[in-house]
Amino acid sequence: MVIKPRLKGGLALTNHPIGAKEFVKRQIDYVKSQDKYKGPKKVLIIGSSSGYGLATRISLAFGAGAETIGVAFEKGIEGKRTGSAGWWNTIAFDEAAEKEGLKYKNFIGDAFSFEMKDDVIKFIKEEFGGKIDLLIYSLASGVRTDPIDGVTYRSALKSTTKEITGPTINFEKETMEETTMGVATPEEIKSTIKVMGGEDWKLWIEALDKGGVLSEGFKTVAYSYLGPKVTYGIYKEGTIGAAKRDLEHTSDVLNDFLKEKYNGEAYVSLSKALMTKASAVIPIFPLYAALLYKVMKEKGIHEGTIQQKHRLLTQMVYGNHPVIDDERRLRPDNWEMREDVQAEVEALWDKITPENFKEISDYAGAREEFMQLNGFDFDNVDYDADLDLEELAKLRP
Ligand code: NAI
Ligand code: NA
Repeated sequence: MVIKPRLKGGLALTNHPIGAKEFVKRQIDYVKSQDKYKGPKKVLIIGSSSGYGLATRISLAFGAGAETIGVAFEKGIEGKRTGSAGWWNTIAFDEAAEKEGLKYKNFIGDAFSFEMKDDVIKFIKEEFGGKIDLLIYSLASGVRTDPIDGVTYRSALKSTTKEITGPTINFEKETMEETTMGVATPEEIKSTIKVMGGEDWKLWIEALDKGGVLSEGFKTVAYSYLGPKVTYGIYKEGTIGAAKRDLEHTSDVLNDFLKEKYNGEAYVSLSKALMTKASAVIPIFPLYAALLYKVMKEKGIHEGTIQQKHRLLTQMVYGNHPVIDDERRLRPDNWEMREDVQAEVEALWDKITPENFKEISDYAGAREEFMQLNGFDFDNVDYDADLDLEELAKLRP
């Protein structure tokens, strides 16, 4: 079967397994082109299959020689469905790790469940040397079933202040269009915090602690976003922002606990805006990203997912140059938030129209990144190749 890209708005309906290999390879190549660093030996990554979690795993494995356990929610080939991007990314990671003799293990399923926590802890005890040094929490999900009350919560991408209308990119139609973000009900705010707040991160730490699998000096980092003024309405002051503030509050609670018991640490890291599966569906966000790329590339300070996470790990979490704000948050988004960068983004934002957006923004770069998330638009992959889906279906992460 020949797999062609098929999009629906900000969603990709198809994924290319060979392209995923290239997607992962380029990130590994970047890490290998940099100095090796002394980091953790045993790592658990929740949300390991795409975006920031995948990049983190690649940096830790190929840069610091870490053994990694990845937890992700992904699907393989089913009938005419070509499998999810994260499924193929994980298989590509496995193959590369195998070649280097780097130990890895994947758990594909629901990280929010107690069952998953039990399975991972059992594995750590029986086959992973008994302890982990680092937990990365990089989940992005629209739904969570609370394992305590059994209720399924859905997150809403809505405003908490007033209805907001603004431009965004439609990658399917290649147009700039207006989107409207409605106002969330109190219920919707609460549900979004349930899904994307800190509760599950805390449940993981509690379970790992009870299981006795945390090492002395154990660290944990969860990924968050703040964003600049132009996105405040949709992000900082949106339902997702409310959930992220909850995550940040949780980091303080966990930090106190870990410090006391393990001489450990818990942090939230505010990352740079990038195109990922999760961010591509946030209203207004893709257009902001395209403008940001334009400005940051011109200034020579643009980073992709892997550069951003590699800098976080080598300079901040395992380095001597942490950028930390007065709320104890790690700030690898410091270049995005620079005043000169944001002033230029704002000036472009005021000028942008449906007619000029492709020239004014780095539309091509943002679109390429979006397509590459799903294994498309690599110049060295043959997209006319007839892939043997039956053979590919035998592969498992
Ligand atoms: P992504 O969509 O690429 O990755 C999400 C990961 O979560 C995937 O590995 C997926 O399999 C996993 N996942 C989702 N539901 C799951 C479940 N029930 N059980 C197990 N695994 C599950 O998203 P991205 O962008 O890498 O997001 C990761 C974190 O980084 C999020 O907290 C996000 O808010 C944060 N972040 C993202 C930014 C961006 O611009 N993309 C900026 C700053 C922070
Ligand atoms: Na991720």
